[in-house]
Amino acid sequence: MEQETKQAARALLAWYREAGVDEAIGNDAAALYAADAAPSDAMKKVAELTPLSLRPRQSAKAPDPAEDAARLSGDAVALAAACGDLTALKDAMLAFEGKAHFPAARNLVFADGNPEADVMLIGEAPGEQEDRQGLPFVGRSGHLLDAMLKAIGLDRTSVYITNILPWRPMGNRTPTMQEGMIFLPFLLRHIELSQPKILMTLGGPAAKLLLDTTEGIMRMRGRWQEINVADRSIPVLPTLHPAYLLRTPLAKREAWADLLELKQRLGS
Ligand code: URA
Repeated sequence: MEQETKQAARALLAWYREAGVDEAIGNDAAALYAADAAPSDAMKKVAELTPLSLRPRQSAKAPDPAEDAARLSGDAVALAAACGDLTALKDAMLAFEGKAHFPAARNLVFADGNPEADVMLIGEAPGEQEDRQGLPFVGRSGHLLDAMLKAIGLDRTSVYITNILPWRPMGNRTPTMQEGMIFLPFLLRHIELSQPKILMTLGGPAAKLLLDTTEGIMRMRGRWQEINVADRSIPVLPTLHPAYLLRTPLAKREAWADLLELKQRLGS
């Protein structure tokens, strides 16, 4: 990069910082200069202030997101099917092109706990702490999850924990269904390889993705359902996400009822 361009880039970044822009909120750069983009007033202002040398060149037609997702999900099916054990699955997920949807993610979050446990818990996606440590549910909601498990005599030696997405979405946004679908083949293979007797989903996105429904979590929670994974029928109990319980302590009553339901099923 030429000196002048570097200086301009630094000045622009400083301007963003001054304006309070300190975190990217989307995975894709906004197409400020695309012919068919309709920029907001704020975007126009940024565009005006961006030196000519830093403006993106008009590129050929951007790939269609739905086509891209379908291609990635097809690749994921083939890659996941070729994995004979959990180590191979983790390696395949590390190498998988779907990571490009999560440019800021640092560490793959594969799983934690006992892969031979009867219960597999499935959350949404890593947050900041999980991204740092490469383990699921190690932040605030993880602490609550540990306390919930303890209340029914379980811990990370007696459950296995994973997420529908192994990479942290920028800004901790909720994963989209499209992202979930891209990684679903890996999740299903993960379930197939670890062979849990019971699945418990945490929060709406995991329940919707696994049960292939649009029904709301408040209606689904606490009701046993079944899914078929590699010709094996597995009971699924959707419950509320610990992060939701942190924001809505009154809902702990419902989560407690779901935990008792799980305990009873495990005991029977
Ligand atoms: N929330 C999730 O759904 N998963 C994690 O691993 C952490 C927070």
